[in-house]
Amino acid sequence: MCGIVGIMGGEPVADRLLDGLKRLEYRGYDSAGICTIHDDRFDRRRAPGKLKNLAQRLAEEPLAGMAGIAHTRWATHGAPTEDNAHPHIVGDVVVVHNGIIENFKPLRDELIAQGREFRSQTDTEVVAHLIAREIENGAAPRAALATVLPMLHGAFALGVMVRTHPDLLLGARLGAPLTVGYGDGENYLGSDALALAPLTQRIAYLEEGDWVAITREAVEIYDRDNNAVTRPIVNSGASGQLIDKGNHRHFMQKEIYEQPVVVAQTLRSYLRPLESKVALPDMDFDLSAIERVAIVACGTASYVGMIGKYWIEQLARVPVEVDVASEYRYRDPVLLPNTLGIVISQSGETADTLAALRHMRAAGVTTAGIINVPTSSMAREVDLLMPTHAGPEIGVASTKAFTCQLAVMAAFAANLARAKGRLGDEADVVQQLQQVPEAMSEALGHDGDIEAMAPKIAAARDVLYLGRGPEFPLALEGALKLKEISYIHAEGYASGEMKHGPIALIDEAVPLIVIAPSGPLFDKTVSNMQEAQARGAQVVLISDAEGIAQAGENTIATIEMPKVAPLIAPLVYAVPVQLLAYHVAVAKGTDVDQPRNLAKSVTVE
Ligand code: F6R
Repeated sequence: MCGIVGIMGGEPVADRLLDGLKRLEYRGYDSAGICTIHDDRFDRRRAPGKLKNLAQRLAEEPLAGMAGIAHTRWATHGAPTEDNAHPHIVGDVVVVHNGIIENFKPLRDELIAQGREFRSQTDTEVVAHLIAREIENGAAPRAALATVLPMLHGAFALGVMVRTHPDLLLGARLGAPLTVGYGDGENYLGSDALALAPLTQRIAYLEEGDWVAITREAVEIYDRDNNAVTRPIVNSGASGQLIDKGNHRHFMQKEIYEQPVVVAQTLRSYLRPLESKVALPDMDFDLSAIERVAIVACGTASYVGMIGKYWIEQLARVPVEVDVASEYRYRDPVLLPNTLGIVISQSGETADTLAALRHMRAAGVTTAGIINVPTSSMAREVDLLMPTHAGPEIGVASTKAFTCQLAVMAAFAANLARAKGRLGDEADVVQQLQQVPEAMSEALGHDGDIEAMAPKIAAARDVLYLGRGPEFPLALEGALKLKEISYIHAEGYASGEMKHGPIALIDEAVPLIVIAPSGPLFDKTVSNMQEAQARGAQVVLISDAEGIAQAGENTIATIEMPKVAPLIAPLVYAVPVQLLAYHVAVAKGTDVDQPRNLAKSVTVE
């Protein structure tokens, strides 16, 4: 989603601002812009589309100046045009903004009634007008920002400069992350530490409601009541190198291939093989007192929750509810005592999941989070952080974060089961989980087969995925992965649901991807597959050698997986599902890492 970089610099900033934006590209955006202050005036370049368009504008008309702000925009209000691209200038004020100003309409109406003219369709422009109005009425920049912030409803991060105060950079955070970077004779503002990594590793994370005044010499942070506060300066640990694709063609491919390593890395912090134990980080509540679990997440992360429901209920016999976060608060959920609320999120910033977490906390529920970014809002707000160690995920389509989340979810389910006295042979669970990285590597060994069959799927208009038990959410994930990066319409179904409606879609033109590890649910899944085959379905069967020997006939392709225990099958079978989507997208020539309309970190509702 949108990204902010600001530099109050000791040397020219334009190139460094552009570099910062490049590091934010992974978040997804559809236009970009930079504004500097030079010789007491604003100088701005903006361009719709990819950063190369902005880079070209800058090459044609370079920007001077030792202070400036820059932005990548993911359109919410108004099309991704140059006029709507940030920074927005009104009078002596320039603003960049992430998030949404929910009450922008009445504010805009009020400002128009006062004779003010708008040049964009964005919600952001109201912020620039409001601050400009205060300045025109004689307020100093800090006072102007402090006056305007309480007028704004929604979730936002702001970067602001005032032409008459070229040595001051202002920022504010409410509901969308914002960091301050500390340099040597320079200071910075960034929507994440990654954007600032080549400039500095010394970072402070603003808290909700904070605003900041940055000069070259000093950083002053204020809370929502305008009290001066200090926020700890930490070492971000983010690499200053541009994260590169190594030998891979796309970040998504690289991240799929990293899975054996990052899942092993994640499991290492949860498994104690010598003691045959699955451990969780220390917690200050009693796991054995948990009587129910409420899982909330979005998109791919929500499918981890659905798989977790199978695992937790089977292993621990504790009832689990799973909700997509965007629905959670609005259905007014019944939160009974002794519920553990779990949020799952790669970014830890997804607006709906964060709001659901706060809803649970406000209701007095103990919370835990399976989160990849340890400095994120969610990671800081949960009672128990269960980190994934996937490393930065750059491809918009989640892959390695998904399997690392599954690994942590399995560790959680085993711990809850032990706390409930139901785990049985813990050494066996440890051993099964330890086998995951190797089984994933073996699954990756079938990449060539998957690539070879991808053109058949790429030619389809619609694709269906079937799975049963924990492989049902994996079917949903397969369909989501395919649609988001290849733009082919795809749906996932519980295989037993086919004849309750979706089977009407089956004909020779609709490939059916069946995810069916051999095991207790195999025969039933295969019966459903055969019902579809009898109606002309073109089946791709993903199974192990035993399953393929039994049911691989009359398919258009089979993808062979190693034979694995049912508990770990979703982790291993995720690999071919991801590779299939990847190769289909490559065959179709789409923008795999930054698919159209999508953003990596969805910080608006
Ligand atoms: C799909 C995908 C999204 C995210 C969702 C939640 O490939 O990446 O569906 O899973 O937007 O994001 P996080 O995990 O950051 O909360």
